[in-house]
Amino acid sequence: RFKAVIFDLDGVICHTDQYHYQAWKQIADQENVFFDEQVNNRLRGVSRMESLEIILEQADRPYTEEEKSVLAETKNEIYKKLLKNMTRADLTEEVKGVLDNIKNSGIKVAIGSSSRNTKLILSRIGLADYFHTVSDGTNIQRSKPDPEVFLKAAEALKLAPEECLVVEDAQAGIIAAHRGGFHSAGIGEASKFHLTEYPLSCMGDLLNVFE
Ligand code: G6P
Ligand code: MG
Repeated sequence: RFKAVIFDLDGVICHTDQYHYQAWKQIADQENVFFDEQVNNRLRGVSRMESLEIILEQADRPYTEEEKSVLAETKNEIYKKLLKNMTRADLTEEVKGVLDNIKNSGIKVAIGSSSRNTKLILSRIGLADYFHTVSDGTNIQRSKPDPEVFLKAAEALKLAPEECLVVEDAQAGIIAAHRGGFHSAGIGEASKFHLTEYPLSCMGDLLNVFE
């Protein structure tokens, strides 16, 4: 029924949210800005600069564009250092099994992520050359909830959106899939979202969608 599955990366294939949190926390502490896990949850699926804007909502002064780009760049340097902790062991047997099962049944597999560090993360977890196409933060103008990142993936696969299933953990990602005309499956927070077509309790559940 589906000719391709487009996977979000962070929160679906692997878990980088703790690293994003630690890196943003250092920036927030340095700037004396309140930041906790709850604010961090709002950063899921959102681009780096938009994440910074959300964090700076708690600041008591305005920041110039120049200051913001320095903060975003500093966060990314801290984040990239933390990513060095990631190895193939960060790809669970469950996720690898699901990916292999789908790919071996002749369905195309793709990545649709807002992250500009997608290629780096994929290589850390041993999936550098695994996907038929990778659409990420480096080839889009507008991040989720805009459908651009998924539309670019479908275009590269030469498929129509309705032939593709998007797998997401963030509401912003499910909205993006919906706006783009894609089918959607959601885990975590996205499994409780009303626009999610197939709510999943774990990644293994995804295989039931194909039965
Ligand atoms: C993913 C994450 C977001 C992150 C975004 C940008 O979508 O879920 O939390 O802000 O990527 O990541 P980047 O690696 O480009 O800073
Ligand atoms: Mg995600």
